[in-house]
Amino acid sequence: MLEVRELHVGYGRIPILNGVNLSVVRGSRVGILGHNGMGKTTLMRALMGLLPVKSGAVVFETATITSMQPHHRARSGIAYVPQGRQIFPQLTVRDNLRMGALRAPDGTMERVLDRIPRLKRLLDRPGGALSGGEQQLLAIARALCGKPKLMLLDEPTEGIQPSIIEEISELLIMLNETESLVIIVVEQNLEFIAGLARRIAVLQKGLIVREVAPTDLHNEQFVEEFVGMGT
Ligand SMILES: Nc1ncnc2c1ncn2[C@@H]1O[C@H](COP(=O)(O)OP(=O)(O)OP(=O)(O)O)[C@@H](O)[C@H]1O
Ligand SMILES: [Mg+2]
Repeated sequence: MLEVRELHVGYGRIPILNGVNLSVVRGSRVGILGHNGMGKTTLMRALMGLLPVKSGAVVFETATITSMQPHHRARSGIAYVPQGRQIFPQLTVRDNLRMGALRAPDGTMERVLDRIPRLKRLLDRPGGALSGGEQQLLAIARALCGKPKLMLLDEPTEGIQPSIIEEISELLIMLNETESLVIIVVEQNLEFIAGLARRIAVLQKGLIVREVAPTDLHNEQFVEEFVGMGT
């Protein structure tokens, strides 16, 4: 469904991704693990078309999208929930969702809210007045209003209380299982990623250096040795 081939991306002359390869099939839930500054956000932004690619290719379904504009990628079914959520803090929850549903058929927002009922009683509040976890749910809901086939999430658990982390995990698994939403999630929270992803790619120094199974993350020695992020 998504093929990333030998992707090179950088800022100015500074290389950050040095030939990333990643193959994601239909129905997947893929985790990407890596230390701070390893290029996880750079990879997500490049997949969404927010950063130019120096070389390599990105193929989504049957189309090569390597230099496609972000809004075209969104229309073809890729959604991006950025690190730090980036909802509109001054707009109400309802208007945040409307921004995501601009091109969606009538009733889309209501269907999304049925998936995330917690947001229903917050519709008239400004986005900025929500808790971090509620804002993350809002960011996911807004992305869902575009009816994506693939969702890219960048550190959705960052700074969020455990009860909502669990809720986010359950929501993403439900969307994956019932609506075949393909999920690629960047994380540093090992427990979250072990519960959510079925495959985990480790990003180090601009390369995916290996893939591990969720169960490997329960083995502390393994984590120390290969992921280098002991819990
Ligand atoms: N706009 C930019 N201009 C120049 N360098 C940048 C820019 N954005 C990021 N970088 C650098 O690129 C490298 C990778 O950054 P990136 O944000 O992709 O890492 P990350 O793995 O997402 O980190 P984190 O875990 O902190 O979110 C870092 O060294 C960072 O300083
Ligand atoms: Mg990042």
